[in-house]
Parts: sequence; C-alpha cells; structure tokens
Amino acid sequence: MKILVLCSGGDAPGMNRFIYTLSKNFDDVYYAYKGFKGLVEGDIRKLDHSEIEKVKDEAGAYIRSSRYPEFKEKKYFLKGLKNALKFDATIVLGGNGSQKGAKELKENGVNVLFVPATIDNDVEGAEYSMGFDTAVYQGVYTVENSMPSFHTFSKTCLYKVMGRYCPKIAEAVFEKTNADYLIASESDLKYSKIKKIIKENEKKDKGTAIIVKEKIIDMDELKNKLEAYPTQIRVQTVGYLQRGGKPTKMELKKADQIANQTYKLIKAQIFGNSVMFEKIEKIAVKPL
Ligand code: F6P
Repeated sequence: MKILVLCSGGDAPGMNRFIYTLSKNFDDVYYAYKGFKGLVEGDIRKLDHSEIEKVKDEAGAYIRSSRYPEFKEKKYFLKGLKNALKFDATIVLGGNGSQKGAKELKENGVNVLFVPATIDNDVEGAEYSMGFDTAVYQGVYTVENSMPSFHTFSKTCLYKVMGRYCPKIAEAVFEKTNADYLIASESDLKYSKIKKIIKENEKKDKGTAIIVKEKIIDMDELKNKLEAYPTQIRVQTVGYLQRGGKPTKMELKKADQIANQTYKLIKAQIFGNSVMFEKIEKIAVKPL
C-alpha cells in the first residue's frame, strides 16, 4: 500500500510520534513536504523510517508544514488532487482549515483520513486534539517557574498564551496554576477589578499572575492600562514554547493511540473520516 501523510497549518507536538508509529506498519510511506503546498507542487518524498525515529519524541513536524490558503482555489486544488489520487491512502494532520481541505479531497475521490492536530484544541467534535496537553504543560511550567521570583518583589506578570480564537489553553493554564486572573475574552478586561487584585496581593507582599489569551489586547496596551497602579508589571510570552514544547508523556501516548487506530482504518480500507478523540479516552471515527 502506498501511504501519503501531510501536516498542515501550525505544527503540534505529537505529530512526529504519530507519523513514526503509523509508518512502522508500512513499507511505502510518502509525505507531502510542507503540507498541501507540497501536495500541489508535487514535492512528495519517501519517508526514511530511521530519520523519523530520531525525532519521534520531539515537537515540530519533521515532514514540515505550511499555511496554504491557495488550496481553496480550484486551480491549485486540482493539482493537489491529481497527486493525492496516486496514493492508496492520504492522511492529513492539522486543524479546522486542514479538515476542510481533507473533506474536499474526500469529495473528489481521495481515500483520506483526517486527524486533529492543533494545540488550540478547537476542532469541532473533538474533546482532545494533538498538542494541547503539551501546550498547557508548557504554560503551567512557565507560570510555576517564574511566579516565585515575581512574588519576591510583589510584581505582576501578564502571561500571554497561544490559542488563537479558542480560550481552552488559557483556561486550562489558569485552572492548573491557580493564577489570580484570567483574560480569555474581551469581557474579562475589567481593569478596576484587576487593579484591586494586584493591590490586595501587594498588601500581602505577593505578586499577581494574570493569564492572557493572545489576540485580545496588545500586551503593551494592557500593561499601560494597569501600570496606572504603582506596581511593576512584566510580560512573559509563553507563545512558541507551547507549540515547540517537548511532547508530554500523555501526548506521546495519545499520538500512539490515534496512529494505531488510523492504521486499523487504513488496513480495513475505511476512509473519508476524521479520526479523533471524541472524549479524552475515546477515539471516534466520524465522516468528514
Ligand atoms: O493554530 C496554532 C497556533 O499556534 C495558534 O495558537 C497561534 O495563534 C498561531 O498558530 C500562530 O501562528 P504563526 O505560526 O503563523 O505565528
């Protein structure tokens, strides 16, 4: 069987492990270099299993990824389609946009499976998507390993976390760290409330941890708004430490589980589906 794998959009910790575990089962695994871009341009390479083995526990995407909105345009899509049709199975790893690309391939006769892989954890119908646990872990690690110093000087820290338009990472980091305040949407920008928390903490000679989801407010603007209160405010961007963070044990386990399920579906020739953690411990197969 000739298998094609591609990663699309933002990479997610666990992608390499998934590809390693899946490819163990097949002799002929290929990948579209840089995702849909490589598929369209015909940049399709044979996977060297010994190479993917070296990075199976690392974040990033050995087979590379890209954001490639051109795939929505007919002339590019048709080129990609022609290449995908040469394979017995095409596996797409990515987020919502990539899922749409996979669906389009399915509707045009490609034997495709889609696996949610985005730290944002915002794929519809999936409780868990590859990369989320690592992204949360990295956020928690950053807060837990910097707050002690901020407490020493009663400083406030604004932790900017990734998540695009989805608050899940920010919410999870907030819960797991017992931070003082969460800004997960514009409605959380309650400046007088935040200043009050900072003031109360200062009275106790304590610092203040505020988790801020990206894309809500410019961090300098937020800092300036709060700086009105006489305290020292620092900004710590967690950002790419989350996407590039070393996959957690749970991440690797989940990547193995979903890769094994994907293998079973390929063997049984069941295509045209998303293979996803519908519940944290339950993999579901849902039509694209
Ligand atoms: O979608 C994953 C993600 O890491 C988001 O959390 C973030 O907003 C975005 O990608 C960053 O994308 P880029 O790599 O283009 O800066």
